[in-house]
Amino acid sequence: MLDQLEALGGKALNEVQAATSLDSLEQVRISVLGKKGGLSEVLKGLGSVPATERPKIGAVANEWKRKIEEAMALKKASLEGAALDQEIRSQRIDITLPSRFSHRGALHPITTTTRKIAEVFGRLGFDVMTGPEAETDFLNFEAVNIPKDHPARDMQDTFFLGPGVVLRTHTSAVQMRALRSREWPVRILCPGAVYRCDQDATHSPMFHQVEGLWVDRHVKMSDLKGVLEFFARELFGAETRIRLRPSYFPFVEPGAEVDVSCFQCGTSPKHECRVCKGTGWLEILGAGMVHPKLFEVAGYDPREVTGFAFGMGVERIAMLLHRIPDLRLMFQGDVRFLGQF
Ligand code: PHE
Repeated sequence: MLDQLEALGGKALNEVQAATSLDSLEQVRISVLGKKGGLSEVLKGLGSVPATERPKIGAVANEWKRKIEEAMALKKASLEGAALDQEIRSQRIDITLPSRFSHRGALHPITTTTRKIAEVFGRLGFDVMTGPEAETDFLNFEAVNIPKDHPARDMQDTFFLGPGVVLRTHTSAVQMRALRSREWPVRILCPGAVYRCDQDATHSPMFHQVEGLWVDRHVKMSDLKGVLEFFARELFGAETRIRLRPSYFPFVEPGAEVDVSCFQCGTSPKHECRVCKGTGWLEILGAGMVHPKLFEVAGYDPREVTGFAFGMGVERIAMLLHRIPDLRLMFQGDVRFLGQF
């Protein structure tokens, strides 16, 4: 029987080696190791072998079985590898072709700048409040101390939507909404789109403003200055200084235009500086103490409360922060421009 096992095993190993496909390998397995395969056939004779010999024969049979299975596993792996190679070769994908480019979206610089401004003032306790873009003539002008024939109306070339309704020319209209709908103290920030009939490299018929308003007992001009200084430093860097120049806005008294020191040339203004044009200062917003007339319209007692307001153009700030040379780039939707942010 040992000879029979030897012959069977040797032959099986040769057949395994000779197999050329997974199918023929399976045939070999069935014919040798299957239920009715060669090995079972040989072992049928075990009954006629003396009991003392049986363990030895069993061990030899097991050893052959192990060897054959091992050889089959190796062969199977190599046949599978060859089959995969064959499949890859037959599919011939050209991996050198350029891939299809997909544009990823990102936030517009106006959005990120507005959020940044709101975040800084948020830390000072200012809540965001919004209002409609189609606004009444009353809230956009009248209520903020710009009566019908007031020359200040000329400063803001207005789009009229219908009798008594305009596209708001500034977010100061939201100031008035806040005063009329809330009890003091009021500390709000109003971001949003505004409209003026004007268009060139520095003006767009639609642009964005952020207006701030703080009304409480004892709010002073020095509070305004402190708040704006904090804001300027957070936005433009810790060395930034601000200066207030007297100016006129109908809804504040006194009013000021506010400049920040040029973050490009710092303390020593350079003639050739393209950011501040050699002046060392950048105008960024208008501000002032809320005019008592507004309190009267809102039903507050101007002897009881005071407040300050300020307003800035978001595009201007974004252009300064990102060194954007032309306002029009902001609205063209050109992905080559937008992709840089
Ligand atoms: N509303 C003014 C403008 O659009 C800005 C401003 C707001 C000025 C508040 C002073 C106070 O130009």
